Amino acid sequence: MNNNSPDGISKDTPAARSALTPSQIADLLARKVVGQRAAVRDLAIALCKRLVRQPSGNLLLIGSSGSGKTTLMRAAEWFLREHTSAPVPLLRIHANVLGRAGEEGRPGEAVLHGLLEAAREQDQGADQDVLLDRACNGIVFVDEVDKIRSVIGTDVHLAGVRAQEALLTLAENESIPMVLPSWLGGEEIRVDSRGLLFVAAGAFEGLYDAVYDRVTIGADRGSLKPITKVVDGEVAEEHPFVLADWLRSEDLFEYGMSPQFLSRFESVTLMDELIEQELVSILLGNDDSPYHRACRYFEQMGYQLVVSPAALGELAHRAAARKRLGARALQEICRRLLKEMEFAPQDHATDGMILLDVDDVKRILDV
Ligand SMILES: Nc1ncnc2c1ncn2[C@@H]1O[C@H](COP(=O)(O)OP(=O)(O)OP(=O)(O)O)[C@@H](O)[C@H]1O
Ligand SMILES: [Mg+2]
Repeated sequence: MNNNSPDGISKDTPAARSALTPSQIADLLARKVVGQRAAVRDLAIALCKRLVRQPSGNLLLIGSSGSGKTTLMRAAEWFLREHTSAPVPLLRIHANVLGRAGEEGRPGEAVLHGLLEAAREQDQGADQDVLLDRACNGIVFVDEVDKIRSVIGTDVHLAGVRAQEALLTLAENESIPMVLPSWLGGEEIRVDSRGLLFVAAGAFEGLYDAVYDRVTIGADRGSLKPITKVVDGEVAEEHPFVLADWLRSEDLFEYGMSPQFLSRFESVTLMDELIEQELVSILLGNDDSPYHRACRYFEQMGYQLVVSPAALGELAHRAAARKRLGARALQEICRRLLKEMEFAPQDHATDGMILLDVDDVKRILDV
């Protein structure tokens, strides 16, 4: 097959890129990400479109700390590395870096240099035109995007304003000036950035409370109807609140994301709150979970940590009760649970084994 375009530049053809459908890509991502079906699906569709070089709107993921946003980005990196035949460069960048590049007057450069570097790592033998073509059709994960809000309280956050503008420039302009990295000759050129796919993610701390307040005591008070419950013989009122049901673009404007910036994102996906069973899966399935890390530590010290399924369930139950901390609550709970044992394992071991059942978990954590 001849992959050459009329100008003689070798282009990667879509046919060579993806034989996988979004649902198959989602299944692969789900090997690394527990739950978060909506976000996994949206990202799988965007990745598939990118692989066949069809236009795909940018994605914005909003979810509390520890809900799996960065994990999802890493899963996509793994997918692109291990499961695609044609190289698609990917860059994960902290949103603040965009602001710094914007301040220096070249908002595209940090991103395009990163993508060119990624393209070179994927294919050492590719020539400049191919590397540029791939970089301009690469994927950019902008993590911690909430850190580039344009206001904090009543103060203008100038670095945030600049970073949003930098991203805007990249997402909307056909022609971005850039100086090539020195390993590509350092020449000044213009590149077309319309092929870039942006996936931005952030925890947007405070947004949940702001929207809750709006619909309960603020401008739209009374919109969220309370439900009456009888708890322990007492009548209590509860406001069953799910952010996804109430979030409007205006809430994000008020948070400090400009309307122009937000308009570059075709879809806003809210991450789910992780439930108990999902937290158990994270503890057991993720090699880097607090549970596995503890097992490895004790093994190095010559002990075997054995945690019963009921004890793991109790840990997940307590973590799930800590709202909006996601899997990060597991870390904190496991740290408290294991502190004494890590300090003096010999005092807690029987025949080289440290056994933890549900009663032990309750006893240690309830003090
Ligand atoms: N849905 C998930 N699937 C698998 N592991 C997860 C998931 N959510 C969280 N984790 C685990 O919890 C840890 C924290 O998750 P992650 O870094 O993805 O959170 P985050 O949403 O990016 O949070 P933050 O907003 O604080 O950056 C990770 O080490 C990961 O192993
Ligand atoms: Mg993160």
